[in-house]
Amino acid sequence: MMTPRDRLIVALDTSSLEHATRLACLLQHDAGAFKVGLEAVHACGFKLLNGRGVASPRRIFYDCKLHDIPNTVAAAASAIVSHGVWMMNVHAAGGQRMMEAAVTAVRARAEELAVPRPLVIAVTLLTSLDPRELAVEMRVDASVTDYVVHMARQAQSAGCDGVVCSPREVASVRIACGPGFLLITPGVRPAWAERNDQRRTLTPGEAIHAGADFIVVGRPITGSSDPQACCREIVREIAAASEDGSSP
Ligand code: C5P
Repeated sequence: MMTPRDRLIVALDTSSLEHATRLACLLQHDAGAFKVGLEAVHACGFKLLNGRGVASPRRIFYDCKLHDIPNTVAAAASAIVSHGVWMMNVHAAGGQRMMEAAVTAVRARAEELAVPRPLVIAVTLLTSLDPRELAVEMRVDASVTDYVVHMARQAQSAGCDGVVCSPREVASVRIACGPGFLLITPGVRPAWAERNDQRRTLTPGEAIHAGADFIVVGRPITGSSDPQACCREIVREIAAASEDGSSP
């Protein structure tokens, strides 16, 4: 059973190990997991991934967005398991065989190491891509929502545990993929926070109502003068939305 706190993933988007460590120490009892992305790992190294480097046993979501031929992705995914991450991701655009290869490799490596199997999540479509880019540059003949729902179904068939999707699509993906398929939603902004460069945002409560299992929040927390208070307020909003009985 997930607690409201478990549903909050804080994005540690920084190239400073000292900053990441300070934030992770400060927030280790107020967030369910930390998202460590390419910026942080390339700047600070893999020690960020297993919690040791951030002086915290909290769960780590490695936002590695693997996208390559199946054999290469399988090998990389297998190597990532040894870092002890809780969740990792691949691009759904790499195709079903690539996603299946990642899922199979992660399962096998986790068994071999006798460690919990990391969750494998697919990125449906980068939200930085707009409808024109999808249609003209990528020549995709579908609306953004239809494309995202299609990619989520592909990820589900390939055995992925869930997808990352924007607040804009979370409700449609929940309907298409049903309960039990994990939906991770960035672009979440509490009503009291700045939107930064996020365009279409939902509040934590709205995201949970729409069907998100986990919400990813970065700058409203990490850029705040009181990150702990921000986390606690967001967790309160998640709790209130979950109690409404509208969450999955
Ligand atoms: O600071 P902010 O709350 O906007 O951070 C959101 C995090 O989620 C960032 O790490 C961003 O890269 C990531 N993300 C996103 N939209 C996506 C996928 C990931 O904002 N579609």
